Amino acid sequence: MTPEFPEDIQHRVISTDAIDEIERYQILTSLVVPRPIGWVSTRGQDGTLNIAPFSFFAAVSASPMLVSLSIGTRRGVAKDSLQNIHQQGVFCVNVVTEMHLAAMNKTSASLPPDQDEFVFADLPVATANSVEAPYVANCPAVFECQLFKEVDLGRVNMIIGEVVAVRLDPSLPTIGDSSFVDSEALRPVGRLWGPAYTLLGEVKILKRPE
Ligand SMILES: Cc1cc2nc3c(=O)[nH]c(=O)nc-3n(C[C@H](O)[C@H](O)[C@H](O)COP(=O)(O)O)c2cc1C
Repeated sequence: MTPEFPEDIQHRVISTDAIDEIERYQILTSLVVPRPIGWVSTRGQDGTLNIAPFSFFAAVSASPMLVSLSIGTRRGVAKDSLQNIHQQGVFCVNVVTEMHLAAMNKTSASLPPDQDEFVFADLPVATANSVEAPYVANCPAVFECQLFKEVDLGRVNMIIGEVVAVRLDPSLPTIGDSSFVDSEALRPVGRLWGPAYTLLGEVKILKRPE
């Protein structure tokens, strides 16, 4: 049965100038949903391993293969992930799947830059092939990235990373003869508002019109 849709909605129009920073954040992040989570792993100058989740994360382009992250400041200071990306020019983005939901959340804690966050979250670590950056050894899908471009947005920096290699669990099935990874087998986690996350719901397949 087709649901009934209203013909018109009397929208509440909110001017973004008239609301504060918190409200802007809450409206934006609860409407752009679900957001994939880029779980960014880096190495500090002193060798300390760092990992933190970022849901201002998006696919930008396939060729070149680019992803973006928006990393905010904390009390006016760049977050450790951003400082490490600046210093090393490389990072890995681990795709967050159901098995890592709790560990991902743990790694969002604000920890001192000299604390190993892989140890903190009890995560197995390995070093990427093409970049000198750590990744979560049992993560089914990882992007190995080089800093491609940075855009200063004021209190936020947008990092565009070029994916130079993709690590994939060979047991992950693909769709038919294609390279599309089967989403249901991947079990990705999406972020909704605040502490709310979602797993995949019903998957619908629609043929594109000619
Ligand atoms: C699911 C999730 C998504 C997040 N997304 C972002 C984000 O897109 N940008 C950001 O600056 N912080 C984000 N955070 C907060 C950072 O993970 C947090 O500030 C973290 O401590 C940064 O770690 P670092 O200092 O080691 O880089 C997010 C937190 C969670 C739990």
